Amino acid sequence: MKVNGVAYRSIWREDGAASVVVVDQTLLPHRFDTLTLHDVADAIDAIKRMVVRGAPLIGVTGAYGLAMALHDDPSDANLANAFDALNAARPTAVNLRWALEIVRDAVAPLPPAERAIAAYATADRLHAEDIETNGTMAAHGARLIREIWEAKGRSGPVNILTHCNTGWIACVDWGTALGVVYSAHDDGIPVHVWVDETRPRNQGASLTTWELGSHGVPHTLIADNAGGHLMQHGKVDICLVGADRVTAEGDACNKIGTYLKALAAHDNHVPFYVVMPSSTIDWRIGDGVKEIEIEERAGDEVTHISGIAGDGTIVKVRLAPKGTKAGNPAFDVTPARLLTGLVTERGVAKASRDGLLALYPERR
Ligand code: MRU
Repeated sequence: MKVNGVAYRSIWREDGAASVVVVDQTLLPHRFDTLTLHDVADAIDAIKRMVVRGAPLIGVTGAYGLAMALHDDPSDANLANAFDALNAARPTAVNLRWALEIVRDAVAPLPPAERAIAAYATADRLHAEDIETNGTMAAHGARLIREIWEAKGRSGPVNILTHCNTGWIACVDWGTALGVVYSAHDDGIPVHVWVDETRPRNQGASLTTWELGSHGVPHTLIADNAGGHLMQHGKVDICLVGADRVTAEGDACNKIGTYLKALAAHDNHVPFYVVMPSSTIDWRIGDGVKEIEIEERAGDEVTHISGIAGDGTIVKVRLAPKGTKAGNPAFDVTPARLLTGLVTERGVAKASRDGLLALYPERR
């Protein structure tokens, strides 16, 4: 996507370099800057501090992290240690383990001297595939938006509610749920996006608004608690969110607060779709509520808030009394029964085991 007229990806490798460059998301929307990751420790740090975030991007960063580890030391022991350390950087998005396993399986049978080159080639492939997958997924999702527009007699915009940030900076490029929005917008369908602020990290307020504004998509930022009210008053035509892990039964784990939006959508008969690539499906588990590890992040993300001061410095200010104890589960699980469907690069599936297997018959 373009920033000030220049095309960027959220992560890239300069010709033949061992390091990778990422957009530093902790500075957005106040400053657009990049950071170079030189080794596996940098990759782990970037994932933990959410310099890079979003399930698909975490996966690709992990893949490059493993390649950097093998560049420094291609031994079996280092392969195993780096795999474990990267995989533990954030526990919920399954795309991380998915990408690490692909790189590990590609390099493990090779002699150590050949591993780094093969690992970079595999990470480069995952990088390219992410962009292609998102484009295909977006086209499937845009058809849903067009149907709604036609059903409205092509009058007014299609009002889409979204949660968290699912755009090009959450992936390598384009995005998942926001990819659908971009695709519909670029196809000439009038859309308007209600952007949940997404406390406590405010990915909606800081990142989604920045992305939509840069792409010229009409949008309105709302407090997290406003969505139910808007749905009751007919102001939301469809909810589109991403996911960090979808189970074989179709339960979807996504940013904290998604479940409450899905409940409100269900109560108000508003279609609710999850847009995610196949790499987000964890075929090994069925019951998302019981089986998905939910990341618990530091309490100061809840007791404090970040913003920009008058002099341009990025500051963190306290909202709660000093010493307040805060809980901070970063994700929740929306049961399949509350979802209208799952949009993947293979098409739109019913959120159920049978629905997913119809798209992925090789998993039967
Ligand atoms: O904690 P984050 O910002 O990494 O969480 C991101 C999300 O929850 C996204 O909705 C999800 O990764 C899917 S879309 C890329």
